[in-house]
This record gives sequence, structure tokens and C-alpha cells, in this order.
Amino acid sequence: MQLAVNVDHIATLRNARKEQEPDPTTAAHLAELAGAVGIVCHLREDRRHIRDHDLLLLRETVKTKLDLEMAATEEMLRIAIQTKPDLVTLVPERREELTTEGGLDVKTMRAALAPFIEELARHEIPTSLFIEADTDLVRLSAELGAAYIELHTGTYSRLRKPDEIQFELMRLRKSATLGRELGLHVVAGHGLNYINIIPFKSLSDVIEEVSIGHALIARAALVGIDRAVRDMIQLLN
Ligand code: PXP
Repeated sequence: MQLAVNVDHIATLRNARKEQEPDPTTAAHLAELAGAVGIVCHLREDRRHIRDHDLLLLRETVKTKLDLEMAATEEMLRIAIQTKPDLVTLVPERREELTTEGGLDVKTMRAALAPFIEELARHEIPTSLFIEADTDLVRLSAELGAAYIELHTGTYSRLRKPDEIQFELMRLRKSATLGRELGLHVVAGHGLNYINIIPFKSLSDVIEEVSIGHALIARAALVGIDRAVRDMIQLLN
């Protein structure tokens, strides 16, 4: 199972002080050097973390695969066509949410999604649909012309009881297996961390890649603090 790194929260930190640091593009390069197979960023309507300029810099410099997460809006379609990421992941977006809370309502949105995915394909941009692990949604995603599905692991990541975890892993496996049978690339993400990734690895035969943001950036801040403090003390002395 390979790792794609979401750099949104490097931008969250930068924006909190309206400074230039830390820079998500630099974080992306370091993640690539460490072995990430892709870089993910979510350009939200409110630009709360990644901004348009970040996306341009990332597009110019990411050497692996740039995955642009976005809502299916006219504005985002225009930006995607202009910047040409390697992949667009369509996600639901609500202004008041802290993070992407659920999967795309592919059933209700199917009439709007079909031409959207087609337009991206016309510009040679493959689409991934961020969906709940539900076989009907997997089938529909394939019918709509998606090249990838990203299975939402939010439910999985919140479970604590072993039997519930096993049940959820089975549900994810069923959808992932069907996705592969239908010729889709199958990836997954949301809420994965250094603990729940261990049982999750049992799906490595059906899920190619995981997309992780918060847990990685949180750990980077903590494991980096020792070095950061030592560097400052050395300068002070
Ligand atoms: N995949 C998608 C589609 C997302 O929206 C997010 C959150 O931005 C992630 C993966 C990463 O989730 P987390 O930050 O919890 O690792």
C-alpha cells in the first residue's frame, strides 16, 4: 500500500499567522523525497488552507502525482482545467465543516457529475470519486466514468471495538474488490493514523494507496520539536 501525503494543514499553520511559513510546497517536496507517491491538496471554496497560488506552485514542482481535491463547482472545474493536476478527487464540501465529513452523494448528483467527469476527461484529467464503502456507489462511480474511487475511512478510523473494526474492514474490502473488478483504481483515506493503519494494512491486496493528512502533520510537529528547540538553543549560544 502506497502513501499520498495531504499538505493542507501545513497551509493551515501558515495561514494562522498570515506568514509565508511553513510552506506547503516545501513540505510536499520533503514528502516526495521521503517516498510519498503523491501529493494531495484540497482547494476549498473558502480557501481556508490551500490557496490558488499554492496550487500553481505545487503544479509546477510536484514530481510524483498531484491530486487536487475539490468540490464539483464551475469555479473549481475552471481552475482544474487551467492547472491540470494529475488527478482530481471530487469531494462534498460544506462551509461549516471542519473537514470533509462524508462521501459524495453520487446518487443525487449523478446528472451533474457525468458531464463534469466527461469535461475533465476531455482535458485528460482523470477523476476520483470520494465515496462511502457501498457497492451501489462503486458501481455508479464506474458508470459515471471515474478512473478512481477513494473509499471514505472516517467510520473505520473512529471504531475501537475489534469486532466492529473487522466488520468495517470487510465492508471496505467488498467495495474495494468490486471497484477493482470494474477496472477502477481503488484508494482510501480520512482519519487514518499511526494506530489504525496497522489493521488497515490487511486491505493492501485490494487498496493501492492511502491519502493521509492530519495524522502526518500532527506527528511532524511533535517529532520535529526536539530538533527545532535544539537548533534555536544552539543559535542562542
Ligand atoms: N481524503 C480525502 C478525500 C479528504 O478530504 C481528506 C481530508 O482532507 C483526506 C483524505 C485526509 O484525511 P486526514 O487529514 O484525516 O488524514
